Amino acid sequence: MIGEPTWTREKLQRLVHREIGDYQLIVVSNRQPYVHELVEGRISINSPAGGLTTAIDPLMQECGGTWVAYGGGEGDYYAVDEKNRVQVPPDDPSYTLRLVWLTEQEQKGYYAGFSNEGLWPLCHNAFIEPTFQAADWETYKTVNNVFARQVLDEIDGRPAAVFTQDYHLALLPRLLREADPDIITGQFWHIPWPTYEIFRICPWGDQLLDGLLGNDLLGFHIGDHCDNFMEAASRVIGSQVHDEYNLVYQKEEPTIVRPFPISVDFEAINEESQSPEVTLEIERVMDEFDLGGKVVGLGIDRIDYTKGIPHRIRSIGRFFEKNPEYTGKVVFVQAGVMSRANIHAYQQLSAQIDHELEDVNGRFRTDNWQPIIYLPDNLPAVTLAALRRIARFCVVSSLHDGMNLVAKEYVASRFDEDGVLILSPFTGSAHELTDSLIVNPYATEEFADAILDAVEMPVEERRERMVRMRDVVEENNIYMWAARLFVDMMQGARRSRRPIRSL
Ligand code: G6P
Repeated sequence: MIGEPTWTREKLQRLVHREIGDYQLIVVSNRQPYVHELVEGRISINSPAGGLTTAIDPLMQECGGTWVAYGGGEGDYYAVDEKNRVQVPPDDPSYTLRLVWLTEQEQKGYYAGFSNEGLWPLCHNAFIEPTFQAADWETYKTVNNVFARQVLDEIDGRPAAVFTQDYHLALLPRLLREADPDIITGQFWHIPWPTYEIFRICPWGDQLLDGLLGNDLLGFHIGDHCDNFMEAASRVIGSQVHDEYNLVYQKEEPTIVRPFPISVDFEAINEESQSPEVTLEIERVMDEFDLGGKVVGLGIDRIDYTKGIPHRIRSIGRFFEKNPEYTGKVVFVQAGVMSRANIHAYQQLSAQIDHELEDVNGRFRTDNWQPIIYLPDNLPAVTLAALRRIARFCVVSSLHDGMNLVAKEYVASRFDEDGVLILSPFTGSAHELTDSLIVNPYATEEFADAILDAVEMPVEERRERMVRMRDVVEENNIYMWAARLFVDMMQGARRSRRPIRSL
């Protein structure tokens, strides 16, 4: 039985309304919440799934502020006015989306280059060597300046709070503060922050740190990432760190550094999962992939080398090797979204996944069954919801992951209180979902045994574990994440505007 959740969208909106006062709220991110695509010459709007849109869209709807983001949709240009603005959400507009245009060269150097070939592997322990090109770094700086100009133009000298997202815009807060010290600045870093030993290989680490320390508040998923950040700030640029207060002083100004574990909209996923559309889709999917009478395992990932997909495939192979009695009886469905396809490491990963799949499916397939069904297509939300309900177990095997919301989505969708989660200890989620089967993705033997445990776990144990995990996700939901961040940003900034006391 699901009780009244602690934090709801309405409660978040009331709080935001109270805290924001006369300030206008500006959110800045690389990805936008409503992408205008061109389908057969007509504009169609897509809302990317994921925590960012779910959490921040209601906040924006309440404050009526502006969301500044890169206009990456084919139809974006046709949707905006002369100030590059469009009112959203499309069916009931309540805030402004302001799009930033980038040239192909800017997009390549800033997004594919420095952000995703430099910072992404730098921050994830996946043993992919980061590439630091001076030209990409120059473009990253240029694009951060482009965003800063757009944000300042939008603020137009009025009181404002700017909430920046992620690693694409590390320099933005400092640029804003230099232009107008009264702007309240907060940022959430959606990926891990590496240890000092790793961070210091970045040739421009000092500038990244100084940029981020232009924030009043800087949030990470877990305490370890905060500690790593504070150590880097102290050792690379000599910032004064008061870790007992979660404060870092740079240029005599404080930044609060705190963990805010991101989450999902538990209620919405829980409800959607019970909808008649999903129930119909379950029948269709069972039929299409011949899943009837089989134990189904599930993976849903962006195809990224941090997700441990080859490790997972190898462990499934080992499971069938050790447990041949499950031939024809267990099926693993791997759904994926292709990602960052023009970057070499992602093309290599795709080829590696194909190779591992050929190996495992080739070794174990029978005339009418194969162990792994791979669906690297952008499946509709209803199909993913159906798969979550069908799956006896879900596997999240990240080599390193800030949080991983697939794990929380699976738990939120299991209103029937059934299902087993196999979870990598190298995810932020593993700190909260301690009733999952936690297994090191590099340990193929243990991983294969965890799959066996998931397949054979008695229904009572599945239920007990799932109930406890659902309680956690229901309580620490996405609205709680947004509320805590927002309050800390507004109140922290107000406090730090007072003269600095020595601690
Ligand atoms: C991670 C990042 C997000 C990013 C998402 C998808 O979750 O933290 O900032 O938007 O991956 O990646 P993409 O490169 O497609 O935006």
